[in-house]
Amino acid sequence: MPRVADVDTVVFDAYGTLFDIEDENWAPADVVLTMRRKQLEYTWLLSLMGGYQDFPTLSRRAIEYAKAIYDEYSLDVDNVMRRLLHLPPFPDVAAGLKRLGAGRRLAILSNGHPDDLEQLCVHAGLRTRFQWLISAHEVRIYKPAPAVYKLALERTGTPRERLLFVSANSWDVAGAAASGLRAAWVNRTGDPPQPIGGQPEVMVRDLEELAAALE
Ligand code: 2OP
Repeated sequence: MPRVADVDTVVFDAYGTLFDIEDENWAPADVVLTMRRKQLEYTWLLSLMGGYQDFPTLSRRAIEYAKAIYDEYSLDVDNVMRRLLHLPPFPDVAAGLKRLGAGRRLAILSNGHPDDLEQLCVHAGLRTRFQWLISAHEVRIYKPAPAVYKLALERTGTPRERLLFVSANSWDVAGAAASGLRAAWVNRTGDPPQPIGGQPEVMVRDLEELAAALE
């Protein structure tokens, strides 16, 4: 495991990295996957078109799409929207954040809406771990647009060489690294490397492994 040196501030993606948005307790796996893919697709399409709608609106549209595809499940869209505010953190997150936060400042940089990020963190008992919850909503464009990653540097006031961005989404890692951020990939699912964009400085399986690489 390569050592990741000189990091003062660690900035995390939220969905899929800290919180399990593909958790199958709230809907069957095919529904969850379809919803997640559509949700991301809508953010990318709108950003390319130069438009913007907030993340909860796009999540609702994505759930409605999944409901139309899988009508046999009679999805309750409002109920799924509520569940999205109470996603479980991955099992390694509480202990991983504790270790990573020792002597470092932690933040979230997410496409999620600021109010939703707040609720997710409070519900998971993780709010006090983070000094900043930073949202793409501030710049009205979604990751992987460089303007969003730039927010991490601006809001935390950390020099580029001392900030590490962490995501489990390979497209997000590629975007962060392409924008010039140091990036770590938490490859939770054993995905093959992302062939486009920038490359991560390190790949780990979970946050505990990442903490070990930084210690
Ligand atoms: C995020 O939290 C969408 O997972 C992505 O920004």
